[in-house]
Amino acid sequence: MDEGFREAELASTRDVTEMHAVTEREPVSVWLIVLIMILMFGGGMFLWANSGGFEANVYNANAVSWSGAGSGGAAAPPDPMVVGKRVFTRTCAVCHQASGLGVAGQFPPLVGSEWVLSEDWHGDNHIVSIVLDGFQGPVTVKGEAYNNAMAPWGAILKDSEVAAVLTYVRNEWGNEAPAITSEFVAEIRSQHADRRDPWTQAELQSIERVQVDAVAVPAAEAPTAPETAPATDSTPGA
Ligand code: HEC
Repeated sequence: MDEGFREAELASTRDVTEMHAVTEREPVSVWLIVLIMILMFGGGMFLWANSGGFEANVYNANAVSWSGAGSGGAAAPPDPMVVGKRVFTRTCAVCHQASGLGVAGQFPPLVGSEWVLSEDWHGDNHIVSIVLDGFQGPVTVKGEAYNNAMAPWGAILKDSEVAAVLTYVRNEWGNEAPAITSEFVAEIRSQHADRRDPWTQAELQSIERVQVDAVAVPAAEAPTAPETAPATDSTPGA
């Protein structure tokens, strides 16, 4: 009677292939697998590069750097040419123009100016004084006579800003002269702390010229070894 039951069962069973039709799906495309692998690889690379090693401290702004660099390391000093250009554009370009060429008969040029380059009797101390306290009256620049007035900037600009703007002016537009340091500006500022009036050419000429005793040039083009002797008063033929 067992036999009879099985036969009945088989008879009622549908065709085997028909039964398995449901499982006969399309095979997964090889390209889809390749695409998924590429995405996983790419994602892994992205995490590797950008996850910060899954360190919680990566997101902690107050963390002390353990590698020496980063938040705990000393910041690079600002480039005087970059800071100087910003100060110049804001404070000096109105009159001396972005080109440094000035305006004929009104505002003298800074390009090739003996004042800027400290040639002849013009000292580094003199340009610092001009920017700190202002300048007025008859003046000769590159053989041209001017008789106008420049406002003082000492109350507005910090020593470091005066140093940067003068370093910029002395090394832009083809000008080439040693950088002016903040320490030098501070020294000149303290020497004439009581000064209230803008300087005149005659007054400045009566003050002995002092050169900044630094060979430092703007960071961008700093040579590995000093290529020029420190500029001093005793430069022959100056
Ligand atoms: C309001 C216009 C004005 C502004 C702003 C001004 N200057 Fe002057 N500057 C003058 C004038 C005018 C003279 C000449 C003064 C005279 O005739 O006695 C002069 C003279 C000078 C000189 C000496 C002469 C020369 O051409 O080399 C220097 C250096 C100088 N200025 C630098 C600066 C710097 C740096 C700044 C910005 C911090 C500045 N000036 C801002 C008007 C200006």
